[in-house]
Amino acid sequence: MNLTEKYREMKRRGERVTALTAYDYPTARLLDESGLDIILVGDSVGMVVLGYEDTTEVTLDEMVHHTRAVARGVKRALIVADMPIHSYDTPEQSLETARTLVKAGAQAVKLEGGVSHLRQIEAIVSSGIPFMAHIGMLPQSVREEGGYKVKGRTLEQAEALLHDARAVERAGAFSVVLEIVAPETAKMISQAIAIPSIGIGSGKECDGQILVTHDLIGFFPWFTPKFVAPEAKVAEQIRQAARAFVARTRRG
Ligand code: KIV
Repeated sequence: MNLTEKYREMKRRGERVTALTAYDYPTARLLDESGLDIILVGDSVGMVVLGYEDTTEVTLDEMVHHTRAVARGVKRALIVADMPIHSYDTPEQSLETARTLVKAGAQAVKLEGGVSHLRQIEAIVSSGIPFMAHIGMLPQSVREEGGYKVKGRTLEQAEALLHDARAVERAGAFSVVLEIVAPETAKMISQAIAIPSIGIGSGKECDGQILVTHDLIGFFPWFTPKFVAPEAKVAEQIRQAARAFVARTRRG
């Protein structure tokens, strides 16, 4: 069974897809040991690890570096790597980028866009590289959009998203991330397609969920998206451990 069939079958059986991001060896290894389905080397690395303002500064070299580190730590989860902005402007460039990320250890790739990027998606899929789509709020477009805004609230937007979802499904994507899509629209899209929708800030009715691990574990305390319910306070533990070290060292 190939990956697309596997994920369609998971959806038919009502099995939820679980996905989190990782950018380094220890996190990837810990997540893999926790038994989740997908580890995404997201270009969110730019914000939560590299200190950029948004994902638009992330380069392909940086994605390769982090994908290699993640690949060293993962034995069973599927590793998906994000294609950074301007690494998939043409079908030829997107194929070259996808191959570079696969060489670094990714087993699948993701880019942001639906109907607007069909030629790129088709080039990747027809080369045999599994592809995860990403529609809705597209972080790489945050500067043009003027912020991270909810998508699919109006009928027109909901129809456009449905069109995108059907198009990426037809093009051969094995799943589709729905980012910050109005929950009723995310539910409608999920019911209309046969590949799993993987939601982030898009309500509970998607076929799976993905989060930035730093948000889930409280490791980026300066900003937590409204839709995240953190399960840990790692930043606080780091501060406490560092303060304890400083105190015991100064005490001598
Ligand atoms: O880069 C990333 O972490 C992502 C997820 C938010 C889906 O694309």
